[in-house]
Amino acid sequence: MELDSHSIATTLQVLRDPAGIPSHPIVFQVLMIATWVFHILFVNIALGTAGLSLYAFAKRQTPHWERLSIGMTKAAKVSVSMLIVLGVAPLLFTQVIYDPQWYSSNILSGAWAIGFIFTLILGYSSWFTFYFKNHQGASGTVVWWGIIGLAFFLLDGFIMHALSYQALLPDQWMSWYAPNGKVDMSGTHIHAWQAGRFLFFIAMSVTVLGAFLKAYVNYYRVREDYEADYLTFVNRLGTKIILVGVVAQIVTFTWWLADLPASFHAFSSPLALAIFAILILLCGVSLRQQKVPHVTSYQALAVTVVMAAVIATFRELLRMQYMLPYGYDIETYKVMEDIPSTALFFLTFIGVGGLVGGFFLTAIYKAGRTQGVYEASPTVNKLANSAIGIMIVWVGIFFMVGIFTWVSNTL
Ligand code: HEM
Repeated sequence: MELDSHSIATTLQVLRDPAGIPSHPIVFQVLMIATWVFHILFVNIALGTAGLSLYAFAKRQTPHWERLSIGMTKAAKVSVSMLIVLGVAPLLFTQVIYDPQWYSSNILSGAWAIGFIFTLILGYSSWFTFYFKNHQGASGTVVWWGIIGLAFFLLDGFIMHALSYQALLPDQWMSWYAPNGKVDMSGTHIHAWQAGRFLFFIAMSVTVLGAFLKAYVNYYRVREDYEADYLTFVNRLGTKIILVGVVAQIVTFTWWLADLPASFHAFSSPLALAIFAILILLCGVSLRQQKVPHVTSYQALAVTVVMAAVIATFRELLRMQYMLPYGYDIETYKVMEDIPSTALFFLTFIGVGGLVGGFFLTAIYKAGRTQGVYEASPTVNKLANSAIGIMIVWVGIFFMVGIFTWVSNTL
């Protein structure tokens, strides 16, 4: 059964949360874009380092490759936990302003949405096993744990992609829900995907991996146990990997744009042009750095952060364009202004996030650059005490707001 645009528009409206949202929709949109940038960057680092650790494992007869394989296995292990934590925030914000789209897509492929969690657990467990077994002189068979882990991560990325993409196609939901008029409630089908778009995010993992390697070199260059020839080897490899990634991204981005409806005029969109420009800039930076393999910096990583921010914005503008024919505009979402909860959220974000997050980042950054036991400086000590202090204040305020709301509603 086909639905006309008007019926789809009405359906999308009634699927919205009748309770409304606690602040202006733009607030959620900006937070969604900003937090997704960090999710996708860690997705890229995880996939990239996991892929490289397997490749390096195959060449582990050479000491540099063996060392790199062990290092990248560890980096992938940490990045997967980061991508999961950092995926939660954009997930919550998407569900606030695009709940009709996100939930419909998830229900239409329910088995996959739930299977995502189990495959992620299996993938991560498998990767952990690889991490424990991948040490100096490891036997060749342990690589299977890594291959299985990476395969599950790729599958999970594909599920995320399909759920995101299906959400953009409300005119097809009915034909997926009841193909030929017969209701299918199994949720076992993936109904739509876009190869160019999915592969673009995989290609981006190659570029980000190259930039990550260069940052890794800059980070460890102060430690004596990281010899200059190993670091130069990794720096050179990073440059080459960026070049391969940039080419793959240009190809897949063109593919993605070509697959978009002609009415979007995607090739002339300023953000699409900006993405091409950033890729060319990265290419130029890498070509220049090829001539000076001993010079290290965080420059390439900084460019990839900007690139991810532009891609996140482009991706959101695309979603707005997809929704245009159905008159779905987040600005028309019912707002039930709740100032205390919004204030609490931002104060938590800045206060707790800034101080506790700031403390962890500073301590981890400094500890990793120290050979042997790390002794915190008086400034880091102060930061640690302030982090504990703000946590105590936060728990106090959290309960006070709850008790106040409860008491004022029951009296
Ligand atoms: C190995 C695991 C994962 C991989 C490889 C992965 C990869 C991806 C990719 C490639 C996209 C972009 C899809 C597209 O736009 O076509 C995406 C989007 C997204 N991911 Fe992940 N992801 C993973 C796990 C997670 C987890 C655990 C969460 C949440 C806790 C999450 C939350 C999100 C959200 C909210 C989006 C955007 C959805 C939207 O608004 O359209 N991801 N992910």
